[in-house]
Amino acid sequence: METQKIDLITQISLDINEVKDLDILLERILTRVRKFFNADAGSIYLKQGDRLKFSHTQNDTLHKRLGPNEKLIYSTFFIPINSRSIAGYVAKNCQIVNISDAYKINGSEPYTFDSDYDSISDYRTHSILTVPMINQRGDVLGVMQIINAQNSQGNIIPFSRSDESLINNFATSAALAVERAQMTRNIIMRMISMAELRDPTETGAHVNRVAAYSVELYETWARKKDVPVYQIERQRDILRMAAMLHDVGKVAISDLILKKPGQLLPQEFDIMKSHTYIGARLFKNAQSEFDDVAAEVALSHHEKWDGTGYPGHMDPISGKPVPGFEGPHGKPLPKKGEEIPLFGRIVAVADVYDALCSRRSYKDPWDDGRIVEEMHRSSGKHFDPEVIDAFFSCLDVLKSIAERYPDDKK
Ligand code: C2E
Ligand code: SIN
Ligand code: SIN
Ligand code: FE
Ligand code: FE
Repeated sequence: METQKIDLITQISLDINEVKDLDILLERILTRVRKFFNADAGSIYLKQGDRLKFSHTQNDTLHKRLGPNEKLIYSTFFIPINSRSIAGYVAKNCQIVNISDAYKINGSEPYTFDSDYDSISDYRTHSILTVPMINQRGDVLGVMQIINAQNSQGNIIPFSRSDESLINNFATSAALAVERAQMTRNIIMRMISMAELRDPTETGAHVNRVAAYSVELYETWARKKDVPVYQIERQRDILRMAAMLHDVGKVAISDLILKKPGQLLPQEFDIMKSHTYIGARLFKNAQSEFDDVAAEVALSHHEKWDGTGYPGHMDPISGKPVPGFEGPHGKPLPKKGEEIPLFGRIVAVADVYDALCSRRSYKDPWDDGRIVEEMHRSSGKHFDPEVIDAFFSCLDVLKSIAERYPDDKK
């Protein structure tokens, strides 16, 4: 029995290591851990500076009370890392805490249960198992908490002694995965800020919007295509980070062109076009699926469905046409339709939509009606008609994303 459980934990850890985006990773950790211990609810707190950030929560009972389009509402909050709260105590003392009834905590303990959340949500917390997430160096990265273990009849029971050591094991590998995800994300963020230093239009907000639009477009497209949920989830975070780097090749473009206040001359625009394959070149030693996708998105986000985009069948490494795809004047033959990778077709829609909504050194933002008309008109020309269908199905969500990432007033 215990060996079976350990095997399962190993399997879950492998699974988690494949996920590279932190938010999705944490949701998945919570889901798996709760299922494993048959816990009704759970939360993850991440250490941020000297506080814990309450960053993810799940609760089956509250979830079941929601209407079809409602989401669990909880606000992000911080708690200090001290012994007065349960999570704070666990983080401060690097110690697991197993409580069988939140409302009957021994008065000699330094921590108390904060029942506010229960009263706001009309929930009753009984058993709580709280464990620190510690990396190999012994640093606390956060705290994992699961609530209300249930037996097979669905009655709430305390967590057992053996649950304590099992969840410890699990928290260790979760901590490693979180650390790796944070490191990957930090490196990508550094790449993005490098690009931002070079190009004032590629702001953090623009990059976040294009990434979030792309993920939403992909999910909408994939649901219509009955792509399995597992596949969607797996691709989503890869796409998100790849989309953030779609224009990273602009770091190689001279300021004279990049920051030119007016229209580009044709020869300047030709140079600008090289940002596609120069970007792809940065990922040429593909180490992971992420590198492949990032290269694909950088290379193909300016292709057009009707074959009038750029750079066509270009080999990013040589900067010359792919052998066998030489066209007139030594230029590569164009790519069109499904020759353009799906994520390139998706990021194209996200990027242009965002460019039209935004101010650029060379253009004013467009109004809503004109944008919708342009996106509609470009279906089957610039854009894949199926991606445009997805675009119109989720336009409301895209607008709410834009509100989440407004441009800074400079
Ligand atoms: P960007 O500003 O992020 O624009 C991305 C894409 O959005 C453009 O790709 C284009 O397909 C679309 N787009 C942007 N503004 C408009 C518009 O006013 N009308 C229409 N129909 N589409 C628009 P594109 O054209 O391949 O340009 C790639 C990048 O080259 C642009 O990224 C921008 O950084 C630069 N760029 C393009 N044209 C000019 C220009 O006239 N002046 C300057 N300074 N930069 C330009
Ligand atoms: C994320 O990648 O951070 C979440 C993606 C989503 O909102 O679906
Ligand atoms: C351009 O800026 O040269 C063309 C804009 C577009 O591709 O729609
Ligand atoms: Fe671009
Ligand atoms: Fe862009």
